[in-house]
Amino acid sequence: MEELKQKISQEGKVLSESVLKVDSFLNHQIDPVLMQKIGEEFATRFTKAGITKVLTLESSGIAPAVMTALQLGVTTVIARKRKSLTLIDDLYSAEVHSFTKQETSEISISKDYITSKDNVLIIDDFLANGQAALGLMDIVKQSGAKVAGIGIVIEKGFQPGGNQLRERGIQVESLAIIESLNGGKVKFKEEVSI
Ligand code: G4P
Repeated sequence: MEELKQKISQEGKVLSESVLKVDSFLNHQIDPVLMQKIGEEFATRFTKAGITKVLTLESSGIAPAVMTALQLGVTTVIARKRKSLTLIDDLYSAEVHSFTKQETSEISISKDYITSKDNVLIIDDFLANGQAALGLMDIVKQSGAKVAGIGIVIEKGFQPGGNQLRERGIQVESLAIIESLNGGKVKFKEEVSI
């Protein structure tokens, strides 16, 4: 998605060879106009998939997930990472280990919001090692619903998550794939049109 790549080039800050800071429009401050376009793009890519729910993980996945759900005319379910006062029983849960942050969190959703009849699109802001996506897929599996695909705003193509998910036959749509962050520069993977 050209507009997203331009935004990353203009405002992204390379913090190391593996970490890109995009706080100005995605992780801290949100650009709602860009988010709306991101939602439209995901909705277009999954338009024929018969999506009934969009599932994301708090917190940075929420904005793109809500915009996508709006375009698809469905609701968004947010998997919680922290224990919630009201999210207390009848939960589907999974463990997610972050290699980037070196921490493990338990993610949960209420059984009320995804059922075996659902066809779920998973949306997240970053894809690195794929642990968050796998945890969300685990939750969908527990509910008996189907994973229709995964939409990612920024995939770090030099980390293994994206390819591992695609090798499992999952439709993974990433709006910008970063090939490398070496030398303080963002290099995007060229899109191959088929
Ligand atoms: P994985 O799920 O693909 O295995 O990713 P990983 O554990 O490496 O990432 C854990 C957290 O770090 C996620 O945020 C993810 O979005 C974020 N992250 C990973 N790589 C980058 C990066 O290069 N830049 C930025 N900005 N974030 C990155 P989180 O803990 O879920 O935080 P949030 O959603 O509350 O913002």
